[in-house]
Amino acid sequence: MKQRSLAAEQFGASAHAYLSSSVHAQGTDLPRLTELSRRLDRPAALDLGCGAGHAGFAMAQGGARVTAYDLSAEMLAVVEGEVQRRGIHGMQTRQGPAEHLPFADTTFDLVATRFSAHHWLDVSAAMLEVRRVLRADGTLVVIDAIAPESPLLDTLLQTVEILRDASHVRDYRVSEWAALLQAAGFAAPESDTWTLPMEFATWVARMRTPELRVNAIRDVLARATEEARRHFRMQTDGSFNLDVAWMQTQPRTQV
Ligand SMILES: C[S@@+](CC[C@H](N)C(=O)[O-])C[C@H]1O[C@@H](n2cnc3c(N)ncnc32)[C@H](O)[C@@H]1O
Repeated sequence: MKQRSLAAEQFGASAHAYLSSSVHAQGTDLPRLTELSRRLDRPAALDLGCGAGHAGFAMAQGGARVTAYDLSAEMLAVVEGEVQRRGIHGMQTRQGPAEHLPFADTTFDLVATRFSAHHWLDVSAAMLEVRRVLRADGTLVVIDAIAPESPLLDTLLQTVEILRDASHVRDYRVSEWAALLQAAGFAAPESDTWTLPMEFATWVARMRTPELRVNAIRDVLARATEEARRHFRMQTDGSFNLDVAWMQTQPRTQV
């Protein structure tokens, strides 16, 4: 099966779980997106890999006219239901991959992507597309799980991520994001990082991880080194802390 079909299938089957998931529905990054939208004064905004729409709802609350975009038709149906239920105006949905955006050049003032890019087949292609659809004075915010710069910790993280979700591609390091963004024509990003507690049982249940793979994750965690245990604050039930970053940038000005 192709990676994109696998991602769409994985997320389609658990679309509703993402609406209620506290990891996705909460977070200090959401009011920050609302505030950014307010400052930009009714921006045309794109929520790329919108899932159940939490980033888009946050931007709409700040006055943005939001296009919620995702691979999964089931996710977009959840967003549409919520738009109705909350009575949000000016928020629409569109289906497709991040790597090929069906929008004209310079359509958006603000593009945000939250907890999605680690599933994309080709982040470089997606960033070139974002650069194309963003106005010259536009803003891009990437919020995603990130890998530590340490190779040991990075390898451990990607191992448990792909066991949990076969459509996982990569949690990039902040240094990799900086290089990717600059290669796509953006300025060096400003970044903040924080950690999110991942409760093991709900983390695997949300993705309906098969038992064989759940046991493999438990085994990987049980044999993790002291350095990894300390960094990820691993607990005996398998719960751990995930590193997350907000990376904000603008198109680089031509000289
Ligand atoms: C964890 S959910 C996103 C959560 C959401 N952004 C939020 O703030 O709660 C990841 C989403 O990325 C979408 N996705 C995965 N690969 C994609 C791609 N190549 N292009 C667009 N969306 C993609 C999935 O369908 C899924 O809905």
